Amino acid sequence: MQPSPLFLACILALWTLILPSGSTIIPRKNSQVPKGFVTTNSRNFQLDGKPFAFVGANSYWLPLLTSQADIETTFKSMKQAGVKVLRTWGWNAINGTELEGALQTDLTYYQVWNGTQYLINDGPQGLQRLDNVISTAEKYDIKVIVAFANNWFGSDLYIQWMLGAGQPHDVFFTNRNTIASYQAYVKTIISRYKDSPTIFAWELMNEARCLSDTLAAGPSCVPGSNTLRTWYQEQSDYVRSLDPNHLITTGGEGHFFWKNPRKYWFDNTLVSDYNYNGEAGEDFDHDLLLPNIDFGTYHLYPQSWYVVDFPGSNWTVEDWGLQWIDDHINAANKAGKPVILEEFGVGGLQNKTDIYPKWVQHALDTKHAIMPWQWGQLGLTESGGNRLIKYADAIIDGASPNDGNTFYANQTEVWDVFTRAAKIQNARSG
Ligand SMILES: *[C@@H]1O[C@H](CO)[C@@H](O)[C@H](O)[C@H]1NC(C)=O
Ligand SMILES: *[C@@H]1O[C@H](CO)[C@@H](O)[C@H](O)[C@H]1NC(C)=O
Ligand SMILES: *[C@@H]1O[C@H](CO)[C@@H](O)[C@H](O)[C@H]1NC(C)=O
Ligand SMILES: *[C@@H]1O[C@H](CO)[C@@H](O)[C@H](O)[C@H]1NC(C)=O
Ligand SMILES: *[C@@H]1O[C@H](CO)[C@@H](O)[C@H](O)[C@H]1NC(C)=O
Repeated sequence: MQPSPLFLACILALWTLILPSGSTIIPRKNSQVPKGFVTTNSRNFQLDGKPFAFVGANSYWLPLLTSQADIETTFKSMKQAGVKVLRTWGWNAINGTELEGALQTDLTYYQVWNGTQYLINDGPQGLQRLDNVISTAEKYDIKVIVAFANNWFGSDLYIQWMLGAGQPHDVFFTNRNTIASYQAYVKTIISRYKDSPTIFAWELMNEARCLSDTLAAGPSCVPGSNTLRTWYQEQSDYVRSLDPNHLITTGGEGHFFWKNPRKYWFDNTLVSDYNYNGEAGEDFDHDLLLPNIDFGTYHLYPQSWYVVDFPGSNWTVEDWGLQWIDDHINAANKAGKPVILEEFGVGGLQNKTDIYPKWVQHALDTKHAIMPWQWGQLGLTESGGNRLIKYADAIIDGASPNDGNTFYANQTEVWDVFTRAAKIQNARSG
């Protein structure tokens, strides 16, 4: 039903009365949030007024599964391991040219691009699979963080289809048409789960950067341009305008823009650290101060972010990680908001066994929630156990996709690091 013009005029008048001049969207207040929704209190998350510390699981592939038995098996193991929060993708976009293959392989897709606008697939091979993951999570008392978009293999489809070739990646964050299109998608997702206490938080984008894997950064996304912060602000305000109750975060990797960035020795030269000099696009200290960014996220992958093990280096993966954790604690303390060490990983079982206990301990000692990348599930049965579930990721011998950072229950030393951490976090919760 369309509201009458008079009704709209009244709302508008009321709106301008309530809002202090200059601000557009009122940040969220805990007292107004319904029961069962997660809130924040200074550096802590809370649930119904009690502390909510947790170990979470990253699993982008859960909504890509087609077997309900496998989905249940996965949630059952998560619950047994003490996991309280799942993080997954709220986009699964395909190109029109991929549609035939997607239909043949029963690949989950929510958006299909074949023109200057995508089509939403809210059918049984589309958003109903996300609905199902969220309702199954609810059954196991696990809350879900949903990201609306992806910096990698995702946002570039908006650029490619709406703006054509030859654009830099960062036009995604500034072009009014891509912003409108992103917001239309955000609205589609929020409208499905707005009233669900199973949603832990909304994430604006996974790992926003000035560049992507297929498009370079343009001249207007540089240290100090605030391109990402401007986008974070507009989108977090937009999400808040649609949904006053759920938490909102960036989903970023947590890069800094420091006046005096950290430096390190590489090949006998002292170089400025990309993760601290603003080149990536984020400015963690200031992004976290935005009124509708309720908590901070950061990721930790030193092995893929650096050329490690070079001669003469004074640098180790373990120490770099500890320092990265400290630098984010400092920012979180200044902002008075919680942080999640939201993705982290190293390759190789021995490296995981050596490094995770130290990183995890330090994070727990400093009031973090943690979400290792990524949850490994054994014993999956679907489609002969070998269906390609997304591009190069397959289920092999019943094991969920292994990108080298995946940890499985049969790797007991590493598994125990996380289940012990979950026990500690759950004992701290109300
Ligand atoms: C999408 O399809 C277009 C047109 O067929 C093609 O040029 C492009 O490379 C595809 N993009 C991706 C990301 O698959
Ligand atoms: C995509 O659009 C083209 C041109 O309009 C059309 O021929 C084609 O059938 C469409 N493909 C899909 C998968 O919708
Ligand atoms: C490595 O050396 C640089 C430059 O002397 C110094 O700033 C940095 O703190 C050192 N890193 C470690 C881990 O000792
Ligand atoms: C383990 O870490 C070492 C030291 O950083 C590195 O050289 C090695 O490649 C890593 N192993 C794997 C399998 O990633
Ligand atoms: C555990 O399971 C994974 C996935 O099937 C497999 O690759 C690995 O060899 C198994 N054993 C250990 C000790 O990692």
